Amino acid sequence: MAAEQKIALEEKKKDELLSWIHEVKTPLTAMRLMIDRLTDQPLKSNMTYEWLRIHLLLDAQLHQSRVRHIENDLFIEKLDLQSIIAKEIKALQSWCMQKGIGFELTLEERTVLSDIKWLSFMIRQVLTNAVKYSHSSDIVIESKQIDEKVMLTITDQGRGIDPRDISRIFEKGFTSTRHHNDDTASTGMGLYLTKKKGADALHMTIEVNSTIDEGTTFTFIKKKKE
Ligand SMILES: Nc1ncnc2c1ncn2[C@@H]1O[C@H](COP(=O)(O)OP(=O)(O)OP(=O)(O)O)[C@@H](O)[C@H]1O
Ligand SMILES: [Mg+2]
Repeated sequence: MAAEQKIALEEKKKDELLSWIHEVKTPLTAMRLMIDRLTDQPLKSNMTYEWLRIHLLLDAQLHQSRVRHIENDLFIEKLDLQSIIAKEIKALQSWCMQKGIGFELTLEERTVLSDIKWLSFMIRQVLTNAVKYSHSSDIVIESKQIDEKVMLTITDQGRGIDPRDISRIFEKGFTSTRHHNDDTASTGMGLYLTKKKGADALHMTIEVNSTIDEGTTFTFIKKKKE
């Protein structure tokens, strides 16, 4: 098959996948409204959790499909970190309650120039990891300005990352060497999309610090003016 035909076919498949995701989102939204009306609390909390899992998987797939056109998909504006983070925390609330996880927020610097869709996606990836890989402990979120740079840190007190894995966590499909067959729902795509795609396109850098069994800190760094 000619190269051009191959590309056209791939584009067609991507488009079909994107419209499929959009179709699935409609019944999923309807289902959320039904779950919200449930009065049986244990059932409600289990359903909300399962709903969230499907929602997060679809969300990652959606961004994965969009990634090839990320440059065309950006709209840079002044954003309020507080409201973005509050929205992301709210979406994870049922899961955090189940796991006994709380949040501490200290946002000294609240504005950042960025794209709301992609920045929210990136924060969502690091936050879902913080929740997924910790238990009964708080997640601390801080922002400040240092030397014309806005820094946003997200720190958990979870299982930590093995030093030999640290350089690989941003690779496409990498999950973990220590916990290799722990969680079949892990795709190892979240941080790849966050750093190699999102952060590059948004001119941000991401740093990570972690200690096994103590916890992990991810830092997003963005120049104040650009
Ligand atoms: N906060 C964290 N604490 C401990 N390990 C982490 C943390 N964040 C990332 N990791 C490790 O890095 C790996 C890659 O993370 P990434 O978000 O890319 O994939 P994932 O969470 O496994 O799957 P998904 O694609 O659903 O996000 C994880 O599988 C995990 O081993
Ligand atoms: Mg993840």
